[in-house]
Amino acid sequence: MKEKNIIVTGGTGGIGLALVKKLINKNNRIFIIGKNEDKGNKVVSDLFSYKIEFFKCDLSEKEEIKKFIKNISHLNKIDLLVNNAGALFLNRETNSDNVEKTFSLNHLSYFHMSLSLIDKLKNSYEPKIMNISSNAHKFYSLDLNDLENALNYNSWKAYCRSKLLNIYFTYEFNRKINNNVICNCIHPGFVDSDFGNVKKSFYRQGAKMIKKIFGISTERAAIPIYNLCNDDTLKKSGQYFFKGIVKKSSNISYDKKIADFVWKESLKYIV
Ligand SMILES: NC(=O)c1ccc[n+]([C@@H]2O[C@H](COP(=O)([O-])OP(=O)(O)OC[C@H]3O[C@@H](n4cnc5c(N)ncnc54)[C@H](OP(=O)(O)O)[C@@H]3O)[C@@H](O)[C@H]2O)c1
Repeated sequence: MKEKNIIVTGGTGGIGLALVKKLINKNNRIFIIGKNEDKGNKVVSDLFSYKIEFFKCDLSEKEEIKKFIKNISHLNKIDLLVNNAGALFLNRETNSDNVEKTFSLNHLSYFHMSLSLIDKLKNSYEPKIMNISSNAHKFYSLDLNDLENALNYNSWKAYCRSKLLNIYFTYEFNRKINNNVICNCIHPGFVDSDFGNVKKSFYRQGAKMIKKIFGISTERAAIPIYNLCNDDTLKKSGQYFFKGIVKKSSNISYDKKIADFVWKESLKYIV
């Protein structure tokens, strides 16, 4: 078995960490990215007998992504990139370039990481990108004049839109980047992770309890993601999965003009 180089953004917690634990073996070399250094270092020390490296990087910041890419420039190939890091921002926040954070973290980081690593992915025998999206993409369409959620900010709406952006990106990648990279996206289900546990408000406590009752475990959510990432017979790109099965995404997510617009706008942000 050949060594695989794998990157999991948000591999320090939740679904990403559960996936890392499944992907890890003596052959795979795993790079995990997170914002919180203590969490990252703990994962590395818990899994010390494997080849795992943590990179502290705030993926909502363009310059930090560039720094990460530079840090791994010595690798000649990447076999798997899992764009997983995501968050919901209760109030509208912006990064140091003044870009709204749901847009920059949940969408631009997927876009930036994927495009920056294309050449290394191409060097792999069976390269894959897996974008962790959500069924929440079905609740809203985009406002093409307001990609950064500046008008009447609503955290849930901004989140749903970012997950729709993941799907536009996945489909457009398949149309625009004509190479051997298999790029798909997946809805992991409703998962009892730390997602959204940001503030101790009454509403948040309620949401936490609902997740405990109805959510699946992160380990269970990671199974179909792992299977697809590990499936060497998966040759089709530009698909949306749920529970390991190809599903139809929302009707508007297939709009090629919007996807093309979003792609071109996103390019402006990562230069
Ligand atoms: N939970 C669900 O029910 C659900 C449903 C559908 C889709 N999803 C999607 O699944 C993905 C993973 O969510 P999860 O439920 O596993 O969430 P989670 O438990 O909150 O984990 C999020 C991970 O992303 C990292 N992260 C967050 N902000 C970051 C930043 N600015 N820079 C770098 N890393 C950052 C976190 O690390 P730090 O703590 O270090 O920041 C953590 O490792 C997300 O894309 C989410 O949209 C989740």
